[in-house]
Amino acid sequence: MRIIVENDYHSMSKKAALMVASQITLKPDSNLGLATGGTPLAMYDKLIEMFREDEVDFNEVKSFNLDEYCGLEADHPNSYHYYMYDNFFKEINIKKENIHIPNGKADDFDRECRDYEETIKKAGGIDLQILGIGSNGHIGFNEPAESLNVATEVVNLTEETIKANSRYFESKDNVPKKAISMGMATILKADRIILLARGKNKAEAIKKTVNGKISTQEPASLLQTHPQVTIIIDQEAASLINKKDLSADCHFEICK
Ligand code: F6R
Repeated sequence: MRIIVENDYHSMSKKAALMVASQITLKPDSNLGLATGGTPLAMYDKLIEMFREDEVDFNEVKSFNLDEYCGLEADHPNSYHYYMYDNFFKEINIKKENIHIPNGKADDFDRECRDYEETIKKAGGIDLQILGIGSNGHIGFNEPAESLNVATEVVNLTEETIKANSRYFESKDNVPKKAISMGMATILKADRIILLARGKNKAEAIKKTVNGKISTQEPASLLQTHPQVTIIIDQEAASLINKKDLSADCHFEICK
């Protein structure tokens, strides 16, 4: 695990965007796993800027989003479909048929989840997965629990997540209570993973992600089992990391 502590949100987003662009340069038909939420927004902005400058080309890229709320139409302003088109896809040259996001309005959710998993497999798996992290340690919508899902499934959102995400909705009551989420194995099968976090409210979750112990109550801690994880965080999110507690193979660097 490599932990990179950047000065601020701007520099961490730029670093993440450069890594995504490098992945696409190395393998133009890369399969990218993508996240929504507040954290990756500046990374998407930087990638759009690089696309406009001809520094990255999404023509052959395939994308697979981590999750989608159950019950929201793709054109609902709070759906992750809408978020992805509005914040990223409409500004780049990714082909529509190469974009994959779980269907929150599927007639048969079990089938939707199975098909989503199969689509990722048929595409050859995810080359680079981008993750955010919940303040409760969730990745995707894999919430802390006694056991975690292996593959893509419908999940119940915790009160904490509903509250955190209510900032985008009219009220907390409007936040869907269920979502389709890639499972832990779906995520951990990616060749490379980049996890982004900013701000004090992520500091505790980041500490537990890297502290050398694994627990399903801290889903992000399972990333310690993956050989190619890069965590890019700002100083606030890094503020509770105690270098002595890091797992043995952690590489920790502070950028000036
Ligand atoms: C989003 C996702 C979530 C978010 C997490 C952090 O697709 O899967 O795990 O990454 O909730 O959200 P923000 O970035 O809004 O703090």
